[in-house]
Amino acid sequence: MKHVLFLIVALFLFLGEAIAINGPLSKAEVRVYSNVTSNVSIHCKSKDDDLGEHVITRFNFYGWSFKVNLVETTLYFCDISTQNGRGAYDIYKARRDANRCHICLWQVEVDGVHGYRDGNNVPDIWFKWN
Ligand SMILES: *[C@@H]1O[C@H](CO)[C@@H](O)[C@H](O)[C@H]1NC(C)=O
Ligand SMILES: *[C@@H]1O[C@H](CO)[C@@H](O)[C@H](O)[C@H]1NC(C)=O
Repeated sequence: MKHVLFLIVALFLFLGEAIAINGPLSKAEVRVYSNVTSNVSIHCKSKDDDLGEHVITRFNFYGWSFKVNLVETTLYFCDISTQNGRGAYDIYKARRDANRCHICLWQVEVDGVHGYRDGNNVPDIWFKWN
């Protein structure tokens, strides 16, 4: 019985570590690359942060890093506008991304904005232009 209890406690400690490494209070970074010929203009904000307007030229990126808060409410949304289309999208959402990516890559393409999970070169999110 003692052993079982020990195992359960150990498991929780292990899970706690895993969550601390991957999830809340960890650091994350967003990078939005451009793969379109026209300039991309991007303006990102969170509840308390306005990151201002930036221009991304082809093959370059705009990015920033931040701490993911404990209750996983961290949210950054961006207005992205190109000659191919525009839209406003949730670019970092802790509930979706805390365990999805540490360096959250996005690629602006002619058909919209593609998001990549850590270690994947096939996008798992596709935001079409509005
Ligand atoms: C970048 O754009 C080119 C030309 O439109 C396309 O062939 C290529 O697949 C794109 N790269 C990625 C990573 O999607
Ligand atoms: C694209 O952005 C760069 C850097 O801001 C600027 O120098 C260039 O003139 C822009 N090109 C166009 C076509 O707007």
